[in-house]
Amino acid sequence: MPDTFTRFGSNSGQPVTRRDGIAKVTGTATFAADNHPDGLLHAVYVPAAIARGRVADLDVSAAEAHPGVTHVFTPANRPDLAGDPDDKPTRFSFRIEVLQDDTVRYAGQPIAIVLGETLEAATEGARLLSPRYEAQPPRTGLDDNATFAVEEPGFGAPGDTVLGDIDAAHADATISIDATYETPPQYHNAMEPHAVVAEWDGDRLSLDMPSQALRMTCAAYAHLFGIPAENVTLRSPYLGGGFGSKAIATGPLVLATLAARAANRPVKLSLTRQQMFGPVGHRGATRQRLRLGCDADGNILALDHETLATTSTFETFLESASNASQGLYTASAIRSAHRGVRLDVGTPGPMRAPGEASGSAALECAIDELAEAANMDPLDFRLRNYAEVEPGTGRPYSSKALRECYERGATAFGWADRPRAPGTMRSSGGQLIGWGMGTAFFPSPMFAAEARSTLRADGSAVVETGAADMGQGAWTALAQIAADGLGLPLDRVEFRSGISTLPDGGVAGGSGHTATAGGALHAAGRDALHKLGELAAEQSESPLFGAGNSEFEARDGRLYVAGDDTRGDAFADILSRAGLSELQGTGSASRPEADTRDYAMNSHGAVFAEVAVDPDLGQIRVRRLVGAFAAGRIINPRLAESQLMGGMIWGLSFALLEEARHDPRTGRIVNADLAEYKVPVNADVQGLQVITVHEDDPHVNQLGIKGVGEIGITGTVGAIANAIWHATGKRVRRFPIRIEDLVGI
Ligand code: MOS
Repeated sequence: MPDTFTRFGSNSGQPVTRRDGIAKVTGTATFAADNHPDGLLHAVYVPAAIARGRVADLDVSAAEAHPGVTHVFTPANRPDLAGDPDDKPTRFSFRIEVLQDDTVRYAGQPIAIVLGETLEAATEGARLLSPRYEAQPPRTGLDDNATFAVEEPGFGAPGDTVLGDIDAAHADATISIDATYETPPQYHNAMEPHAVVAEWDGDRLSLDMPSQALRMTCAAYAHLFGIPAENVTLRSPYLGGGFGSKAIATGPLVLATLAARAANRPVKLSLTRQQMFGPVGHRGATRQRLRLGCDADGNILALDHETLATTSTFETFLESASNASQGLYTASAIRSAHRGVRLDVGTPGPMRAPGEASGSAALECAIDELAEAANMDPLDFRLRNYAEVEPGTGRPYSSKALRECYERGATAFGWADRPRAPGTMRSSGGQLIGWGMGTAFFPSPMFAAEARSTLRADGSAVVETGAADMGQGAWTALAQIAADGLGLPLDRVEFRSGISTLPDGGVAGGSGHTATAGGALHAAGRDALHKLGELAAEQSESPLFGAGNSEFEARDGRLYVAGDDTRGDAFADILSRAGLSELQGTGSASRPEADTRDYAMNSHGAVFAEVAVDPDLGQIRVRRLVGAFAAGRIINPRLAESQLMGGMIWGLSFALLEEARHDPRTGRIVNADLAEYKVPVNADVQGLQVITVHEDDPHVNQLGIKGVGEIGITGTVGAIANAIWHATGKRVRRFPIRIEDLVGI
């Protein structure tokens, strides 16, 4: 039968409200830490108070004497793990700290874990441990250790790329800038702390744990505990945010699982806010040098982007910031290079728009600086250097409506009225006003996922995949796609997800989850309809009898010969005649290698910012943000716009607020809480407008979906920084931009 069920139904494109919304606002949604199995023990771990050295002495007697404490584990009595915690069992694995020795490698590293009958007992037990440390001077700043180059490029290990003759391009440039930007360490700070309830039954493990990658997490635990992956059941119905930090197995949660096995009782561990600053990933700091050159007409000749990025002493994950410069602007030559520096900090990891967030912050500022040096409007300058094909490789873009994003964003913002010179606009209250812009850009990857669709006798369906909804609304968009794959209204489709026993839903990351899990769901629906069509074509009473070689289409629970509305049959009737109570289809999705080779695939956008700077106090307010984004087919405009808004707010946060600061004496983070690690509140976010520009993309995947989860950050940071320059004439190249950078300007 021909493959004909590709037509989109009417569910996609609708601004459906999120299906988990009511459960969340009424408090009936169950998060991992809400589980209380019988016999539960509570775990509290002790975070290292130094960043570098060793635990010379750890007297556990007082803790063990506590009547409510049942177990105290330290490196001296830590039960064995089957797998080496240095191993990399999955694509997204890092070495983890699970009490394997007495070395302290970062502040906050677990050095002991205490189990108690109550959380209070375990907490008190942990306090009764008074470790004695032998400390060495901690290295927590970009200049505190030697730099290194990546030897084997891979996940988190970006290499160097040179396209064209960079030296010649520099030499040919008549207008140049050489600017260095710094970005600080940032921590994910999901609302829901990392948590696990681990329960063993012989060699079977059940985990209630928020996870962005259910099967991958199961594989990592199976490796560490020496059991088959199918023996691990992971339930992750809801996540209170993930942002990359919940995609990877982390030390504290593995340790709680190990303790549960040793205690032979279920164990719950929920990290405190402070404990999330260390062992569960972060965005590493960067120092980025951009050397850009253009000719007198503003054509970029050299685009040279070097990044120094931090990682831990025991693992390599570098913020691949320079990659942001590879695919966006035309240039005679492009060079991107990365170096790392090992510090006494927890291993960084993917954090929303890893690489591109930091990289585009610097790139978009540098482009602005070069435009100014070339005496051009920043938008005109970007259009002058607009890439019609991917620079360097010459690959066509699978789709690229960036030009339309520029136009629509600029029009909505009123960019044409922007005076060129900085420091020339004032509000009626005397505030300095500035307008800036940045280009947004994020790759559109696909991973691999599988799904199952089951048509039921009453003509309804159940669709299943072990996908993850971090709060972004993935399940809602995925259910819409699944319903369209089946030609059913959304309310006839039951959507099941969030548990590892379902077909592998892949990874909720890289802005690729909707495309990947959605592709699998759509394919599973199509597969069920193929089977249904084959049945109907054999049924003499069916209007589809004998239509086995026709093309079919499905809508509203009926299967039709394509283009012939008079020849249709209800799903339920076909199943009933066949004597079937249900019919199952399966599907999978991934990207063919040839498509990756032949096309550059990215989402694009343009962000425009208006800031007001108090000329006396240096206080900065972002008064307006307008973002126009092109990300293929938008499945759910309400949720996509929310995602893009969330990204833009994060961009504001990156530009003006977020920074983890280490005490140079102890190496500890001094603002490891939400009182002093600043994130935006409502009052920080004033005007916010999102425009989505539709793209028909026949190449990116069968459904034409790109991602919207991360791109919103990328243009926004530069737009705000550029607006601050435009308001004040002062170029600040260190993020976050603070009052003290602008006071007395
Ligand atoms: Mo993300 S940083 O791909 O969860």
